[in-house]
Amino acid sequence: MANHDICTKTMWALSVPLCILLILFVALTAYATYSFHIFVPLAPANNIDCEQMFNTTSETYLSYIENRTLLEPSQDDRNCFQIRRRRYLPADMPKSMAGNHNMFFIRVVSKDYDFVEEVLTMMHSPIHFFCFALDITADALFKERMFRLGDCQVNVLVPRQLFNTSTAHGMLSAHRKCLKEIDEFEWRHAVITAEHDIPLHSTKFLSRRSRRLRDMVEINGVHFKEETLLSADPNDTSSQLYQVSRNWIQHLCSVATISHSQHKVLYDYLMKTPDFDLPNDSHRETSVVEKNCDTKVYDVDGSCLYAMEDFPAIRNTTRLFIRADPHYDFGFVQCVHEVVFERTFFDPISNKNANNYLYGSHKNLIDDYRN
Ligand SMILES: *[C@@H]1O[C@H](CO)[C@@H](O)[C@H](O)[C@H]1NC(C)=O
Ligand SMILES: *[C@@H]1O[C@H](CO)[C@@H](O)[C@H](O)[C@H]1NC(C)=O
Ligand SMILES: *[C@@H]1O[C@H](CO)[C@@H](O)[C@H](O)[C@H]1NC(C)=O
Ligand SMILES: *[C@@H]1O[C@H](CO)[C@@H](O)[C@H](O)[C@H]1NC(C)=O
Ligand SMILES: *[C@@H]1O[C@H](CO)[C@@H](O)[C@H](O)[C@H]1NC(C)=O
Ligand SMILES: *[C@@H]1O[C@H](CO)[C@@H](O)[C@H](O)[C@H]1NC(C)=O
Repeated sequence: MANHDICTKTMWALSVPLCILLILFVALTAYATYSFHIFVPLAPANNIDCEQMFNTTSETYLSYIENRTLLEPSQDDRNCFQIRRRRYLPADMPKSMAGNHNMFFIRVVSKDYDFVEEVLTMMHSPIHFFCFALDITADALFKERMFRLGDCQVNVLVPRQLFNTSTAHGMLSAHRKCLKEIDEFEWRHAVITAEHDIPLHSTKFLSRRSRRLRDMVEINGVHFKEETLLSADPNDTSSQLYQVSRNWIQHLCSVATISHSQHKVLYDYLMKTPDFDLPNDSHRETSVVEKNCDTKVYDVDGSCLYAMEDFPAIRNTTRLFIRADPHYDFGFVQCVHEVVFERTFFDPISNKNANNYLYGSHKNLIDDYRN
């Protein structure tokens, strides 16, 4: 009897600290769960000190130019978790960063999975859609990885059909497949870019800019109204629409912004214009090369391929996208990624609380690029 008493007392004595521990545990769990809902962007990781790249007389810059970072393919993934661990692709984002004008980014890709993933990460935002149409020359591993990427991310579409994009009509059919894929969704503008295009601005900036277009279509910086598209005659090779769109297609379709209401009319028109061969690795465009190209390295269509030499100047350019070759200078792509990351998450104008968010260097390098 006495023994039993002692036992009960001990149990009571023990249960008090146990209760306190339990309460503490519950409180901590609740706090942690709450903390996960505070949005903390993760800065892109690379081995280059990009800030040093602004100083073209610095030791770091000069030795980088001697020995550039090139694309090194990552191991094939087994599941979605590996992609998410490698890349920052948030499923939710504050409206102040994502914007609310839904965009659709479309491009044809054929190789370099890691470059595709890098550029997707630069532009990713959960409220926008991304479609990658695959060229027929894509190898088995590239296809497998692209299909997995599409299966892992709800807002990334990778049609199973492959396209022969060696001609204008093949390229346009690939875009059209993407446009039809989510036609019923509420996207407002589609941005068509070439395989090697990289953005210089945040997706929110692109979406704001597109909103001003309303129902118009912008090809190579030229605006076309609905009336122009509806009355366009594909046999009239002297029209501005014909000349601008032909030039755009010749440059592997970079860059056009197309409103949801006009994409059918535009692509119906384009598919009626004559088909022609697009430049490729064995037939490069050499007669119309981009002027003032510092690197003197060109893409198959004669577009300049930008590299680290151009990095100090990119904050000053008003271009939306530039070309870069991951096999010539992938480090440049990674440094541009840092700049776009800042513009996305630390823009002092559109994100008032920018300084509350974490970033590797804790430094705000941004000038207002919209001046
Ligand atoms: C650039 O690097 C050089 C060499 O390291 C240094 O002397 C110079 O002060 C640097 N310039 C700036 C603006 O940091
Ligand atoms: C070039 O850079 C890579 C990695 O940064 C390094 O492993 C390699 O030794 C360098 N090569 C030369 C010739 O400096
Ligand atoms: C793609 O189309 C072109 C022109 O029609 C043709 O010459 C080429 O063989 C095709 N490529 C493949 C891989 O089918
Ligand atoms: C364009 O030309 C083709 C062949 O010359 C002709 O069949 C077609 O009807 C013409 N289209 C228009 C809209 O005039
Ligand atoms: C490259 O383009 C030429 C003509 O423009 C074409 O004949 C050839 O089939 C193309 N090569 C590939 C691999 O598509
Ligand atoms: C970029 O613009 C800023 C201010 O307008 C200027 O001070 C700077 O020299 C420019 N940089 C380059 C590389 O053109």
